[in-house]
Amino acid sequence: MSEPSAASPSAGTPPSPEAPPAEAPPAWEEVYRTRGPERVSWFEPVPEASLRMLHAVTWLPRTAPLIDVGAGASRLVDHLLDEGFTDLTLLDLSDSALAATRAPSRARAASVQFVATDLLAWPPPRRFAYWHDRAVFHFFTTPEAQARYKALLEAALAPEAAVMIATFAPDGPERCSGRPVARYSAPMLAAFLGPRFELLWQERTTHLTPAGTPQRFQYALFRFKG
Ligand SMILES: C[S@@+](CC[C@H](N)C(=O)[O-])C[C@H]1O[C@@H](n2cnc3c(N)ncnc32)[C@H](O)[C@@H]1O
Repeated sequence: MSEPSAASPSAGTPPSPEAPPAEAPPAWEEVYRTRGPERVSWFEPVPEASLRMLHAVTWLPRTAPLIDVGAGASRLVDHLLDEGFTDLTLLDLSDSALAATRAPSRARAASVQFVATDLLAWPPPRRFAYWHDRAVFHFFTTPEAQARYKALLEAALAPEAAVMIATFAPDGPERCSGRPVARYSAPMLAAFLGPRFELLWQERTTHLTPAGTPQRFQYALFRFKG
């Protein structure tokens, strides 16, 4: 008679309880509705690093089409309008976040295109001269989602477009809003984007959340060679 294998469950041992399912993070829509756009951890009253990156792109005409992907309720659009940019698109999964930008107190946003959709399922309808992504790409943690992001980025860019991507840095948080993130240095972002993108500028910053917690970010600016 053969011995029971070590992997066989022994008679009389109760089955081990199944691990409880990991708690699903709240939907983005819910995060904005319950916390409010100015209480979310990524809120910044003035998007200073984003503006520094934009100002490095000195050749961008004010009529150039700009897109902020995963814009949320960011204040960036107010600064872009103040600076005279006239062709702005804000894309986000959360309609509540976009609604905060459309609010009467920020009424100039009437001249902005709002797109409430999943970025990875979005067929870019035109080509943009400036792509801004602060803290969105880093949520795409699977190779499939990252490849999809890169494919649609390339499809959405005009030749010589500038691309600004900001993610949590390698010494930044491992999660945001209950979701895991992939953390990057500038060389890691450059390696991911590949030879069609030239790294122009990079900056590491520390963001202070509304609760005062420091978070290390990596900002990187690229030129798309087409
Ligand atoms: C950490 S927040 C950053 C928001 C904004 N960029 C800022 O700096 O204030 C991430 C944003 O990405 C949006 N988001 C996450 N996954 C997305 C997806 N697949 N498509 C579009 N937006 C997405 C969320 O709704 C949220 O507004």
